[in-house]
Amino acid sequence: MVLRSKLRGKRLKHDKFSFVRDELCRLNKANLYRRLNLISTSKNTAVILVNGVASINLCSNDYLGLSQNKTVLKMTIESLSQISQCSSRLIAGNSNELIQLENKLADHRKTDRALIYPSGYMANIGVISTLANKLTTIYSDEYNHASLIDGCRLSGARIEIYKHNDLDHLEHLIRKGTSDRKIILTETIFSMDGDRSDLQGIHNIALRHNVITIVDDSHGDFIYDQAPGPGLASDGLHIFDVHISSLSKALGCFGGYVAASEQIVELLINMSRPFMYSSGLPSHLCSSALAAIPIAYKGNLQERLIRNVTFFSSKIDHIGFNTESYRSRFRSQIIPLVVGDEKLTMQFSKALLSDGIFMQPIRYPTVQLGKARLRASITATLHLEQLKIALEKIETIGKRLNII
Ligand SMILES: Cc1ncc(COP(=O)(O)O)c(C=O)c1O
Repeated sequence: MVLRSKLRGKRLKHDKFSFVRDELCRLNKANLYRRLNLISTSKNTAVILVNGVASINLCSNDYLGLSQNKTVLKMTIESLSQISQCSSRLIAGNSNELIQLENKLADHRKTDRALIYPSGYMANIGVISTLANKLTTIYSDEYNHASLIDGCRLSGARIEIYKHNDLDHLEHLIRKGTSDRKIILTETIFSMDGDRSDLQGIHNIALRHNVITIVDDSHGDFIYDQAPGPGLASDGLHIFDVHISSLSKALGCFGGYVAASEQIVELLINMSRPFMYSSGLPSHLCSSALAAIPIAYKGNLQERLIRNVTFFSSKIDHIGFNTESYRSRFRSQIIPLVVGDEKLTMQFSKALLSDGIFMQPIRYPTVQLGKARLRASITATLHLEQLKIALEKIETIGKRLNII
């Protein structure tokens, strides 16, 4: 593969696409080149085949294991009458299943309305670019996900980045700002650090300064609103003006949605270009989510997930990793093992994979340069035995590579 592209690269030397080869070389030199692995699932997402080899999966966002739940699969198949509506919802793509799911999601969020997008990424860029314009200032947490960053860029708004979870800095920036329309943008559980934001504190600042609040709850949705115990990430969520989430994490399905007031949803239907100009989410995928929601509401899968998170995170503490999210003392299912150096992170990931543990390296631009990491993503389907094996390998290989 590499050889083939080298040969092609030679032929392209004075070609109008030489910049493509240059970019790829640059990425390779900086240890930022990404390659696709072939993944196939087996019985559940705890063990998958990575390039044909069975591996314990610490990479999945299928936190509750619902993507292969028998009831969800059965209801999805039963509802399948066409692959897709093949149209924007504003033309011929709206369906009963979409409406049913939106009603369910609005109830779930306790908002007037919900609106489904084809993906969480599209929901983020669609909502932000509609609610913000050149005259708006967006106050965005330093660690916000790429889809939120892209939404900010697309909106043309002035963007002020506040230090991660630093509400004093946030308020300082808001005080200095002169825009008539101001928006605070955060996640509940941060996707690459696994810590959580202080939703109540952000809400208080928003009230003091009359600021709109938008929160992305992709990694908390259907987990922390259902789980037992104190310190729920979704505490205070209802006080946010706009909630965005993905259906491809705890629900194990596909698609994205926003929940907000009647008028905001009407505005999105009329002005949000990713909603208007892309085909609607296929109806059978709405049926998957409709089947997954009551199962998620039972709460037993969240109990299993939290048991696994508690087990894994307490052990990883002792191994001696720099697990950045622990600063907040909140342990979510996302546990970053920060290595720093990009090359070493890739070596770590590769060595683990050859021992049957799948954890992808997370590098720039997903995280800052020099903050590369393996991001352990814990799911309810993992058995304690599998977690023990993974921990042993992480410790042995981490020591061998002088990471710990
Ligand atoms: C915080 C956050 N928001 C949005 C998305 C995008 O969601 P989707 O995969 O549904 O496009 C992701 C994806 O990983 C995410 O981590």
